[in-house]
Amino acid sequence: EGEAADPGAWDIGGHEHYMHKEICEQPDAVDRVLRGRIDDRFATVHLGGLGIDAREARGVRRVKILGCGSAFHAGQIGAQLIEELARIPADAEPASEFRYRNPVVDPDTLYIAVSQSGETYDTLAAVQELKRKGACVLGVVNVVGSAIAREADGGMYVHAGPEVCVVSTKCFTNTAVAFALLALHLGRVRDLSVADGKRIIAGLRRLPAQIAEILSAEEEIKKLAHSYADARSMMFVGRVRGYPVAREASLKLKEVSYVHAEAYPASELKHGPLALIEPDVPSVAIVPDDELLEKNRATLEEIKARHGRILAVAHAPQEAADDTIVVPHNEPELDPVLLGIPLQLLAYHAALALGRDIDKPRNLAKSVTVE
Ligand code: G6P
Repeated sequence: EGEAADPGAWDIGGHEHYMHKEICEQPDAVDRVLRGRIDDRFATVHLGGLGIDAREARGVRRVKILGCGSAFHAGQIGAQLIEELARIPADAEPASEFRYRNPVVDPDTLYIAVSQSGETYDTLAAVQELKRKGACVLGVVNVVGSAIAREADGGMYVHAGPEVCVVSTKCFTNTAVAFALLALHLGRVRDLSVADGKRIIAGLRRLPAQIAEILSAEEEIKKLAHSYADARSMMFVGRVRGYPVAREASLKLKEVSYVHAEAYPASELKHGPLALIEPDVPSVAIVPDDELLEKNRATLEEIKARHGRILAVAHAPQEAADDTIVVPHNEPELDPVLLGIPLQLLAYHAALALGRDIDKPRNLAKSVTVE
């Protein structure tokens, strides 16, 4: 399964930075990861390069996802999607940690290595260690023919196209969507119903237009970025589906703007980080309209009571927040894909306001091919 890269992909177009260009490309990028894979008749998807048949897919007892940086966060979203749609226990771990801890390698576990470049040394070394121990390893990779794509037993390309900016945006989003496809596939060979399969497919098809709708609010997000960019530190909070979104948004902000940011599960705030909340330490709260809405609203009240400023990313304006970025609702399982998009623009405009070197942040590299 290969990809003819868009010939204009390396052209910066009318954009000031690749980061901005790549954020804006997301509706098309997501369209590409879906293209040719959806099977409406059986409410599933075809993933030609996976290399495991239906019987093998049914035999998977656990899924372990490995990656670094944004790839790890996309893997956390992926693990939740696999648990929700396929009901297979799944979790994600930094590839670097995994390979240093003499992991127990289990023959019924499906291992998945996630990487934009396909060349990250720690992730590649984890794949090699797993293969040496006889495990089945799939790759969820962007760069076609890269080392991890070659070493893995099979997998899927995320078709984000070339990503030039050091910080990942469109590839993160496409990887999360690729995991939704994989979760749907694993679900439909197990117990996910046709009705739920159709519901997820309809949701996947709505994503590109919904991302475009979020991006059309750029001016408003830019104003918010200017008003939050002087923060001493920022706290990103979310629960369950919102937590990996908070982690990725926090990483994005610190990578590109150098503003210190921390991500916490909202439920853990009271066990320590609440001590940090004060007027110049604002919080960004991920507040989807799902079964945890009331719990998340209680968190907003807790922060407000400590005089913390709050920017909520939600499906409707939040009274307890100082500002809300309203994003369209998809299906609860797919909402994480959308909730993080405005926060990419927030990080970009905060970095721009602070005069940072956006496409090449200090001390960072696009691909870390050494230990
Ligand atoms: C570097 C980059 C990150 C990236 C990570 C993993 O640290 O700065 O943006 O998420 O590597 O890269 P990969 O190519 O494996 O996804």
